Amino acid sequence: MPSNDCAGLHTGLGPHIGQRAEQRKPFTLPRLREMHTRREAIAMLTAYDATFAAVADAAGVDAILVGDSLGMVCQGHPSTVPVRMDAMCYHVECVARGLARTSGTAMVIADLPYGSYHESPSQALRNAVALMQAGAHMVKLEGGGWTTDTVRCLTERGIPVCAHLGLTPQSVHALGGYRVQGNTADDASRLRTHAVALQEAGAAMLVLEMVRAQVAADITAALAHCPTIGIGSGRGTAGQVLVLHDVLGVGLGRTPRFVRNFLAEGGGIEAALRSYVCAVKDGSFPDDSLHAW
Ligand code: KIV
Repeated sequence: MPSNDCAGLHTGLGPHIGQRAEQRKPFTLPRLREMHTRREAIAMLTAYDATFAAVADAAGVDAILVGDSLGMVCQGHPSTVPVRMDAMCYHVECVARGLARTSGTAMVIADLPYGSYHESPSQALRNAVALMQAGAHMVKLEGGGWTTDTVRCLTERGIPVCAHLGLTPQSVHALGGYRVQGNTADDASRLRTHAVALQEAGAAMLVLEMVRAQVAADITAALAHCPTIGIGSGRGTAGQVLVLHDVLGVGLGRTPRFVRNFLAEGGGIEAALRSYVCAVKDGSFPDDSLHAW
């Protein structure tokens, strides 16, 4: 992955949230495509409230994911399955307010939670509209194959979609745990077929979670128009995403082995987020020791 000049990132909020040292261009779909064409790495991070959204934005994060991981890190559930639409809308509104207060430029991506898009494309459309009205710029949904028509329905109606394949946490009970995906040739080929179909249906981005590194790299190479964002999927994706709490080394459960505690490196929270962004952009995160699959 080519390196980027992390010195070019603006210097952050300083003591007064709301004052920005330097303005960046808003992270829009055209900007996403431009970055993908130039092979610039995309740095995504989760956030769930106004202040952390503003700090992440100031640290140079391109896209803030209001993930349904909030069910685990904010609500204390053991999985994302109990998360409901009203909670997602609440957290998206908080994040959007934080960015509006600070003239933030990051794109806000909101997860469609468990059960909010499974019945039909029209159910997905109704719930995606609610998330967009709460302040999202894009919605994310999990799964391949059966989700393709839903992705097409949303994108044809002007709602940008981020797809999510590999370990799809909403299906943790069907998958039998948080396991690496793409282990057999059949699994790898199914993932690739689903990824290509999602791109053809209009998906603007594709999260690949805990996919074997070589499989994730192959899928990335197969998708000309849809950047892949990896989490625990090696170095060969077009960008990376992590859960905010993992980057800061705090959590209720076991830390996944692909994460790095950037706060442990010193300098405070904003510096930790900035070093995450720099490490994604210069290709030093993840390193091989963090994904031994
Ligand atoms: O909910 C979430 O935070 C996610 C990321 C782990 C990709 O889906």
